[in-house]
Amino acid sequence: MIKAITGTKDILPDEIHKWLFFENLVREKMSFYNYQEIRTPIFEETTLFSRGIGEATDIVSKEMYTFNDRSEVSVTLKPEMTASVVRAFIEHSLGKKQALNKLFYISPMFRQERPQAGRLRQFHQVGVEAIGSTNPALDAEMIIIAYEILDQLGLKKLSIKINSLGIPESREKYKLILSDYLKKYYEQLSDDSKKRFTTNILRIFDSKDEKDIQIMKDAPLLIEQLDENSLSHFEQVRSILTNLRIPYEIEPRLVRGLDYYTHTTFEIVSGSIGSQSALCGGGRYDLLIEQLGGVPTPGVGFAAGIERILLACENEEVMDIQPNKIDIYIIRLEKELLPKVYELSNQLRIQQITTEIDYLDRSVKAQMREANRLGAKYVVIIGGDEFKNNNFILKNMSNSEEKLLNIAQLTDIKSFF
Ligand code: HAM
Repeated sequence: MIKAITGTKDILPDEIHKWLFFENLVREKMSFYNYQEIRTPIFEETTLFSRGIGEATDIVSKEMYTFNDRSEVSVTLKPEMTASVVRAFIEHSLGKKQALNKLFYISPMFRQERPQAGRLRQFHQVGVEAIGSTNPALDAEMIIIAYEILDQLGLKKLSIKINSLGIPESREKYKLILSDYLKKYYEQLSDDSKKRFTTNILRIFDSKDEKDIQIMKDAPLLIEQLDENSLSHFEQVRSILTNLRIPYEIEPRLVRGLDYYTHTTFEIVSGSIGSQSALCGGGRYDLLIEQLGGVPTPGVGFAAGIERILLACENEEVMDIQPNKIDIYIIRLEKELLPKVYELSNQLRIQQITTEIDYLDRSVKAQMREANRLGAKYVVIIGGDEFKNNNFILKNMSNSEEKLLNIAQLTDIKSFF
């Protein structure tokens, strides 16, 4: 039997209502904040991601689905969408059409990670990008939108962690300070962290190794090296969050897995889904657009993993929504009435009434069972003497009340509900 590829998941009909509910909530939220949807291709030229996300990141160095197409062009399934959105922004000169572009997306992403709960190889993100302003209000807006969505779902075990990475100059200065500190402990570091010491030293903060964690506890912090502008920017973001009573913590050890960040970075973490606990992450990327060949333009954004959010909802037993029920199930008493029943169902569907009929020549009893299984609000019974007299029965399934109606009344059936 051919099975789905490891780390990918079918989203089956009995769970799709949760996805649709979530996506509708996101679309509604986005419209209140006046963000427009953007859709980009599933794959891009590989250099977009290696330059955009950073060669030394885990995503680029070991997780991308990269292959040569038949014209020997190296292409990559998108592991994230910020680089793609920026590519589209530059390619279509969106910055000339309006000074501030407020964009969002809902899309599958691909990373060849080791699959586990909350970690897939094809997963879905909802993401938001605001391109064109350095205003700290937009940094705060990202955190607020993400938090509002999660809060509205009813999730409780959330913590918002924020940090500032400042400007690259401070970061370069800080890397030397950190490297000085870590030299003393180099031999005690895990193998992974030893590698990161030369390739991406900040990521040692992300190590899950106990010994590494102990060493990093006393490490000097980047936030202590920030310049005045960065500190003031960060202070403004915090004061907006505080005013709106958004509960955040400063996490000076928060480093993100992508290289493009400057200034604010954040993650919202859930206490109910195990070790892959980040429901969303984001931050400012003021230099990415020029790095990818555009006119220097600042940007800020975030992305949230939909599978992880739905997992948190399941574990916290929130989002108690049921699949849509059908309005009417038509039961036919005689098999040969199928063409007539089909015609009638068509009339109902045109009136925007969700209608189901029997295609399997089931017995009347089995049709009734099916109507119950589908949660039909009403059944329409066609056949017998009633039908010979141009009548039918409308039965209310919640109180078993029956009405005898004329076939002509089917065109206005809602008035008999
Ligand atoms: P990221 O932190 O790499 O950021 O991913 C954002 C979210 O996607 C994570 O917090 C997580 O919920 C989900 N996610 C990531 N990898 C997986 C996986 N293998 N399986 C399931 N879920 C996953 C970004 O992607 C940036 N583009 C965010 C951003 C937008 N920054 C600025 N603008």
